[in-house]
Order: sequence, then C-alpha cells, then structure tokens
Amino acid sequence: MSINNVQIFDTTLRDGEQVPGCKLNTEQKIIIANQLDILGVDVIEAGFPVSSPGDYNSVLEISKIVKNATVCGLTRANQKDIEVAAAALKYAKRPRIHTGIGTSDSHIIYKFNSTPEKIIERAIQAVSYAKKFVEDVEFYAEDAGRTSNEFLAKVCEQVIKAGATVLNIPDTTGYCLPDEYGAKIKFLKENVKGIHNVIISCHCHNDLGLATANAIAGVQNGARQIECTINGIGERAGNTALEEVVMILKQHPYLNLDTRINTKLLYETSQLVQQSMGMTVQPNKAIIGENAFAHSSGIHQDGVIKNRETYEIINPADVGVNESSIILTARSGRAALAYRAKNVGYDLTKIELDDIYPQFLQFADHHKEVNDNDIHHLMELNHIHKTSIAI
Ligand code: KIV
Ligand code: ZN
Repeated sequence: MSINNVQIFDTTLRDGEQVPGCKLNTEQKIIIANQLDILGVDVIEAGFPVSSPGDYNSVLEISKIVKNATVCGLTRANQKDIEVAAAALKYAKRPRIHTGIGTSDSHIIYKFNSTPEKIIERAIQAVSYAKKFVEDVEFYAEDAGRTSNEFLAKVCEQVIKAGATVLNIPDTTGYCLPDEYGAKIKFLKENVKGIHNVIISCHCHNDLGLATANAIAGVQNGARQIECTINGIGERAGNTALEEVVMILKQHPYLNLDTRINTKLLYETSQLVQQSMGMTVQPNKAIIGENAFAHSSGIHQDGVIKNRETYEIINPADVGVNESSIILTARSGRAALAYRAKNVGYDLTKIELDDIYPQFLQFADHHKEVNDNDIHHLMELNHIHKTSIAI
C-alpha cells in the first residue's frame, strides 16, 4: 500500500509564542523559521500579522527567507485582518491565509452574540475575501471540538464552496477524547460535499494531556495535516508536540502515514526553541527530554547494554541524540558500572568489579548520581589503572 503523506503545519511562532514569557523578537523568529524550513515542515504559521506591528514585521521578514515551506498568517473573520495578513505575506513563495471563526454554541452565543446563520455568512465572506489575495486559504472552525458535528459539517461545506483549500478542525479547549475527535473527522469525511478536494487539519490542545493522541486519531480517520509546535508549547497546557506525532507515524509504519520531517534534526530544533524562548522542557518529555534515552535502574541498564532495543523503541540517533545514556545511581547494577568504567578507560576484571561494586553502592547511596570524576576517584582508591583510552 502506498504511504500517505501527512503535512506538518508548525505553529511554534504563532500558537507557541502566545505562551506568557516566551515572546521572541523578529531576529529570533527568523532563526527558528529557517530551522523549521530545514527540518522539513510543510507549513510555518509565522504569526498573527494584525496583532502588532512587531508580529506584522516578523511575518514579512520570515516570508522573505523561507525557501520551501508555505508561510501562513492568522486572521479573524474580518476584512482588515485579512488585508494586513495578505500584505505581510507579499514576499512569501507560497503564502497561505488562515482565517476563521468560532462555531460552538459558546462562541456563537457568548463571544459573538450571534446566530448560526450569521456565523456561516461571516465564514463564507472571510474565505471569499481571503481568496482575492491568495489561492491557498485555510479555514478554522474555532472550538470545533465542542461544536455539533451536524453544524460543523454545514460550515465546512459552505467554506469549501467559497474556496477554502484546508479545513482546520481545532479542539481549542483540549476537551475531546481521541475516539470522539477521530469520529468527528470521519463524520466530516462522510457528510461534507467537496471534502475530498480539501485537506482536513487537526489542531489539538493539551488541556487533558490528549493533544497528541487526538491528532493521531484525526489522521487515522482521514485528516492529512497536523498543526503542532516544537516541544508542544502553546496556549495553556500547549499544543500537539511536533516531535511526538512525527515519531509516532515513523515508528508505526503499518499506519501507512508519514511526514517529510528530517527526524535527525528534532533534538537540535527542540534545543533551539528551548533556548530562544527560555522555556525548558521537563526531563521526562517524550522524544527530546534529557531522560528520554537515559536508563538508571539496574535491570533496564543490563538489558540495554546487552541489546538497546530491550528497553528502547527509538534509536536515539534517529532524533539527533548521540547515544542512550547509562546513568549511575544506587539502583544501578554491576553491568552498568563496568560499562561506564570502560567508557572512561578501565576494563575491569570480574574480581575488580566484585571488589569495587559494594564501595560504589555506598557512595551512590549518598549521591543523586555518580559521574565520571567519581569513577576515577573510586579507581584511584582501589589502585586500579587505566587499561584503554577513554571513549
Ligand atoms: O486553538 C485554536 O482554535 C486556534 C485557532 C485560532 C486556529 O489556535
Ligand atoms: Zn490553538
């Protein structure tokens, strides 16, 4: 069966940058946009041009330097936003306007004090107006996660008629369960006229920790674009993490879904975003966290030293991490101590290892981690000399 491509729409510089304290200047955004382009994302959402002169300028400058990806600007469903976005995108090789409006009862009644009919009218007008400036127009139905499938289908059908090329179905509040979100995409595929001519996009938030699972459920049910951010940053609990969805699709080839991402650049891209935004991810973060390939219990260390795949489903080199790390703690066994000692030049005999191991445990019980200097010190105390050059 041929492999279906899932487009990666990166919104680190728009939804990701909405995180309090993570504001970037234009220069920093250009560096990140360039890295995203090299990483191989299909779309870079560069900002919300009408929101500030700084954001307008960033979208303008990013549009000039991006070579391969589509550059996208966010708007609300009004003419001014759309005109400003079109102007900011004027240098983009492949410009896209991302326009839309809230479709859930909560948005229609409380946010807009409007009616479903008037919301459909505004959606059609926004897409038709954006089409005057660019061919590629993505429509978002904000809070689609809490919008009835029947009304959502009506909105989608009308914006497709008006010329939308991509339909974004955001779970704005991160409320949906994966089977519910997947069923929503399936419902649209089966009930919206013209849906086969457009790309359905998943935009999932992480309020219940389900952003990645929901995006995967979406593509399993026919969506072909995922909106995500590096490190999963974004409003509140964040968005779908780019590195997670990309590796899920890569590690499960039977799904017949893949992306164009150069996965070997994931770790360095994550580091760049962490450093630029001053937002460090937790050590146990999937794929790019400092502990994602670290093993510290004796049973796991022994397994990994014998064969990496015993406890690792991803080769660290595939995401740009040099190698798995064997962390020495009081939970480590002889195999891990011998392995780490060998790495710094000591090829221990069985007798030496048996002698040293109890001393190592005593030391480790009083320290969080045993490092290379500690190993050298232990060897000196026991008059053990190097047998090889440290690796
Ligand atoms: O979460 C959301 O609904 C959004 C839209 C503006 C696309 O970010
Ligand atoms: Zn969002």
